[in-house]
Amino acid sequence: MCSVVGYIGNRYCKKFVLEGLRRLEYRGYDSAGFACLNPEDNRLLYLKAEGKLDNLSDELENSSIDGFLGIGHTRWATHGLSTEQNAHPHFDCQKKLSVVHNGIVENHHELRQQLVQAGHVFHSETDTEIIAHLFEALLISHKTFKAALIELVNRLEGAFAFVSIMQDLPDTMILVRKRSPLCIGIGDGQMFVASDLLAFVKKTNKVLFLPDKSFALVRNDMIELYDFSGKALPIVIQEIDVDIDAHEKKGHSHYMLKEIYEQKNAISETIDFLKKIDSQIWSHLGISSEYAKELESISIVGCGTSWHAARIAQFFFETIALTPTKVNLASEFRYMNFFPSKNSLYIAVSQSGETADTLEAVRFVNDIKLPTIAVTNVASSSMVRESDGFLLTQAGQEIAVASTKAFSTQIAALFWLANRLALEKGIITRKQMDLSQEDLLVAAEVLENSIENYKFDIIQRHAKKYAAYKKTIFLGRNISYPFAMEAALKLKEISYVFAQCYPAGELKHGPLALIDSETPVFVFSHQDPLLYSKIVANTQEVKARDGHVVVFAFEGQDELCELADLSFVFPRVNPLLGPLAMTGLMQFFVYQIAKELGRPIDKPRNLAKSVTVE
Ligand code: F6R
Repeated sequence: MCSVVGYIGNRYCKKFVLEGLRRLEYRGYDSAGFACLNPEDNRLLYLKAEGKLDNLSDELENSSIDGFLGIGHTRWATHGLSTEQNAHPHFDCQKKLSVVHNGIVENHHELRQQLVQAGHVFHSETDTEIIAHLFEALLISHKTFKAALIELVNRLEGAFAFVSIMQDLPDTMILVRKRSPLCIGIGDGQMFVASDLLAFVKKTNKVLFLPDKSFALVRNDMIELYDFSGKALPIVIQEIDVDIDAHEKKGHSHYMLKEIYEQKNAISETIDFLKKIDSQIWSHLGISSEYAKELESISIVGCGTSWHAARIAQFFFETIALTPTKVNLASEFRYMNFFPSKNSLYIAVSQSGETADTLEAVRFVNDIKLPTIAVTNVASSSMVRESDGFLLTQAGQEIAVASTKAFSTQIAALFWLANRLALEKGIITRKQMDLSQEDLLVAAEVLENSIENYKFDIIQRHAKKYAAYKKTIFLGRNISYPFAMEAALKLKEISYVFAQCYPAGELKHGPLALIDSETPVFVFSHQDPLLYSKIVANTQEVKARDGHVVVFAFEGQDELCELADLSFVFPRVNPLLGPLAMTGLMQFFVYQIAKELGRPIDKPRNLAKSVTVE
């Protein structure tokens, strides 16, 4: 998504704003811009550039514009192409105030029409420009600046976080937050503003997260905070520690590769952390032990890779804790009929803890007063703050847009939780619980070792060959089906190769027509003998149509491997952890294909790491 960064204080701000934007570039990288007030006469100065942040930073380096109050932006296009004109900041007619924004103003169309009729001239296709023009109009029609701002925030619909600076208010930065994240880092005589505190972690660890539906007036050394009716709110400052080490590639060619290799350790750290909170787990999750024992159903929401982890976890909760579990895509969940059931638990799975669709699903369930928990990787995220309880995965910061270690730690955490729930319900013993932790460590070991086993073959032979295919099919059954979906998603997002995923048993109901020798079929096996035999049968159906097959199989599954044009064989693990064991090699293989194709792997086109619009 877009990122906004701002600074007000006693130093020139251009360097900090650029550094901050660089750290948040994972959120969007279609275009970028910077604006500041000229220290001599408070004139608004700005520069925008199409494309990656480097373009803006090159231009800024050759320019003298700088100031003590400034804002910056990287864009992930929602309204209008990624052109320089659509890049933020945007301005009012007189170019006296400027705005950078993350989110979507949903009533932008109607507001634009009204403003055009009133004589405002627009220069971009964005919803953001509306904010600047509407603010301009309201400043004229209201007696005080604050009254204009209150009307502005209430006229805008949707989810938005924006920062504005104005020539007429040279000592103040204006911040507004509704549903999209925004925070302030408090320094000594200076304030840092950003969509994500990562932008300023090196400067200060004192952070104010703007509450939902609030606005702030920020000066060098003071903050005023108000709700949307103009009532003053208390300033709650938190001290935050963030691991900045994640920002080194440590010799790897991409963050994604580094993160693939960090998985074994991240899984083991996640288990250690869960062991530590084991005895207080229910209070951590915001429910009582009695509630856990009586739990009759679970509902999980998530998006993308997190949704795949949730789909895999459905098998954990149903098989281990014998608890019926539904999994919904967060973006669909909110618009479906909702049947609240008592004794149920709602789990939101999200790496970032900021994904708008998932966060809105949490808010929806919170409003109905049913218990929500967030399984997330970011302790300071909105989901942690807004859910009744939370479980933190210990993946460390994930920089590459394509999720790897967040996925495997989500699986580990959810597997652990299913076992812990089974223990509480008296379904398994403490000894079995301990064994389940061992099983996770074994699967993590296989995850890493299998990369080592096959790495040279993949790099030297297979990557080039498979990079030449234009389309692919992925198949799985039971728990290996959501894993196959995840594999297909990984390939699509980083290599741009078309990948379609089906439950293997569905093939003969239509997709079989797609099979030919030009479309490799990736088959993910299962250790259960019955499911395995069905997978073998489905693979035979593909071979009988001259299909090209790549299998991910387990030791002893010779019949399947013999059918394959290429096979990878994994040691046997707890059958529910088969997908976890295969995760590393699957990611490594698609990574090498994308590398062969010369894709910008860490920042694939059109994508962003943190999706804070619905
Ligand atoms: C794919 C990927 C996305 C995210 C999705 C949800 O590699 O990373 O599909 O999984 O956007 O994000 P989170 O987990 O932050 O809610």
